Amino acid sequence: MSTAHGAEAGQQPATPKERVVIFDTTLRDGEQSPGASMTLDEKVQVAMLLDEMGVDVIEAGFPIASQGDFESVLEIGKHIRNAVVCGLARAGMADIDRAAEALKTARRSRIHTFIGTSPTHRQYQLRMDEDQVYEKVVASVTRARGYTDDVEWSAMDATRTEPDYLCRVVEAAIRHGATTINIPDTVGYTTPDEMTRTIRMLRERVPNADRVIFSVHCHDDLGMAVANSLAGVIGGARQIECTINGLGERAGNAALEEVVMAIRTRSDVFPFTTGVDSRMLMRASKLVSAVTAFPVQYNKAIVGQNAFAHESGIHQDGMLKNAQTFEIMRPEDVGVKETSLVMGKHSGRAAFRSKLEELGYELGDNALNDVFRRFKDLADRKKHIFDDDIVALVEDEVATASEAVKVVSLTVIAGTSGPQKAIITLDLGGQHVTREATGNGPVDAIFNAIKGIIPHNATLSLYQVHAVTGGTDAQAEVSVRLEEDGRKVMARGTDPDTMVASAKAYVSGLNKLVTRRAKAAPTTLKAI
Ligand code: KIV
Ligand code: ZN
Repeated sequence: MSTAHGAEAGQQPATPKERVVIFDTTLRDGEQSPGASMTLDEKVQVAMLLDEMGVDVIEAGFPIASQGDFESVLEIGKHIRNAVVCGLARAGMADIDRAAEALKTARRSRIHTFIGTSPTHRQYQLRMDEDQVYEKVVASVTRARGYTDDVEWSAMDATRTEPDYLCRVVEAAIRHGATTINIPDTVGYTTPDEMTRTIRMLRERVPNADRVIFSVHCHDDLGMAVANSLAGVIGGARQIECTINGLGERAGNAALEEVVMAIRTRSDVFPFTTGVDSRMLMRASKLVSAVTAFPVQYNKAIVGQNAFAHESGIHQDGMLKNAQTFEIMRPEDVGVKETSLVMGKHSGRAAFRSKLEELGYELGDNALNDVFRRFKDLADRKKHIFDDDIVALVEDEVATASEAVKVVSLTVIAGTSGPQKAIITLDLGGQHVTREATGNGPVDAIFNAIKGIIPHNATLSLYQVHAVTGGTDAQAEVSVRLEEDGRKVMARGTDPDTMVASAKAYVSGLNKLVTRRAKAAPTTLKAI
């Protein structure tokens, strides 16, 4: 008998469950959502967490799209231990060659090549007839197969493609060596029942369909991406393409955390397993949200702040009697812990190190010393220090440790009668420089003072403040997006003082703009 938390403890399923391959495209389709761009270091950080979490395939980028994408795929390939690293390529030879070149550092690699197959895509985007698209499928899969025996082929806009034609191109892709056939619902148009039938139809009608893995890639325009993905699995797909927090083009892609937890929680309906350690889902969600500054909606399934909160009297009453009354998953299974009180200012270095390990961080001695010093400073100023405070300190330290310019001190004069004034001292590679400036509000004054020290043309296109924990003495986490000459960077700063956090975030953004390798602006790609 199954319980609300899955199979009864110790009870073995009658037959081993089939594995569903989890293909994460946060770094490719996710990064394509406007404003979600990540730096190379951030992409490597996300990729390493995905690998540790047990994701099977990491789509690391679209190497021909820009020099930055190419380098990210190359760099990610060096760091990934277990997952297959995948690079996207259109059906052109140059795309496939570039993807192969970028994947050469990866232990296990996949080339993912695609072309639009629907009448709309053939006629308007590609201006090709059925036979011409068919020829492109043959040529692209053959070319990719020349580089690797792990080739994924996608029929873009598959769910609006005529079934007969879809069978014809899928058959060609299999015959020429594709090992995974991906059926994208590119525009988020299909329904669960339709998706089940499409995958079933392909498996029944296409010769040698049993030799490949069918995959689904669903967008969320009608809010059905996760349901459609799971329906694809019911139809016989064994790979789901998804992203952390459902990040992605327009309304996003199927959310990885929802897919994984639906399979796990409803194993009676979905008798499958994934390789993902669900206890890392919350950490991955927070990391992706932080590096992209895309907030996670409060009531988002699995990883939203309220996903396990019970407010109404009846719910609270039920929860106190038995958690299963209103909870179908245990918070700890997705990595939500009761945010526990951390040791206070008298805690020693060893206890602090073991706390970091419990939170999943292993720092070298120098980094540990720096974070420990900041923890002590914080403990002097803040009454209660929670796990989330420690996480914010570590993330801030890791992100800014190697930056050349740092905030040394800040004084702000703010209030009802302006102009507000800021006096800031920055450390420029060992040299301290101080400036003061006024502005229309304290943040404007701070940014003007910084500009007096580091002249720049960057514009601020996003400024966001988030309280790390509850309470009036909570640390502030400020995220900024700066744009200069077509380049965009995201940066964060954390401090108990919101103005200091703002200054740190802005300075960190400028560091990134100045020191970042000139990443060629992504080209506007034609369909082929
Ligand atoms: O949505 C889509 O069709 C895609 C393909 C490139 C797989 O992202
Ligand atoms: Zn997509």
